[in-house]
Amino acid sequence: MKRVLTYGTFDLLHRGHVRLLERAAALGDELIVGLSTDEFNRIKGKHAYMSYADREYILKAIRYVDRVIPERSWDQKVADVQRYHIDTFVMGDDWQGKFDFLKDYCEVIYLPRTQDISTTKIKTDLSEN
Ligand code: CTP
Repeated sequence: MKRVLTYGTFDLLHRGHVRLLERAAALGDELIVGLSTDEFNRIKGKHAYMSYADREYILKAIRYVDRVIPERSWDQKVADVQRYHIDTFVMGDDWQGKFDFLKDYCEVIYLPRTQDISTTKIKTDLSEN
């Protein structure tokens, strides 16, 4: 049983998110998503349109996602990798190199981002139209 872990806010779920989850899930047997809580987003200076409960509800309906856990801080990753017996940690390559410290605990893979789509772009495009 190979377990994969990724983190994110996944607000206004879009094709780039689903492609990331699809490729992450293909790397193992079980995909766990660490979903940023509303409070952690505030710490990051990010404001999600959808609440944690709604983002979690939608993520859990995605066939590639087996489990959603809350991401409450920057420094919980090592503990999560150990607690959930994670084999592979995955993030989009906008985070390239940022989580290499996890290589002491598991495999770390950065996947290419899907071009021309992001939650920020959706928000900007909608506010301009
Ligand atoms: N992601 C991706 N391709 C995109 C957008 C996101 O592969 N076009 C990946 C990110 O690299 C990350 C995960 O999806 O691993 C969750 O990203 P998140 O930050 O929640 O989404 P963004 O659309 O990038 O949001 P924002 O614009 O608010 O930064």
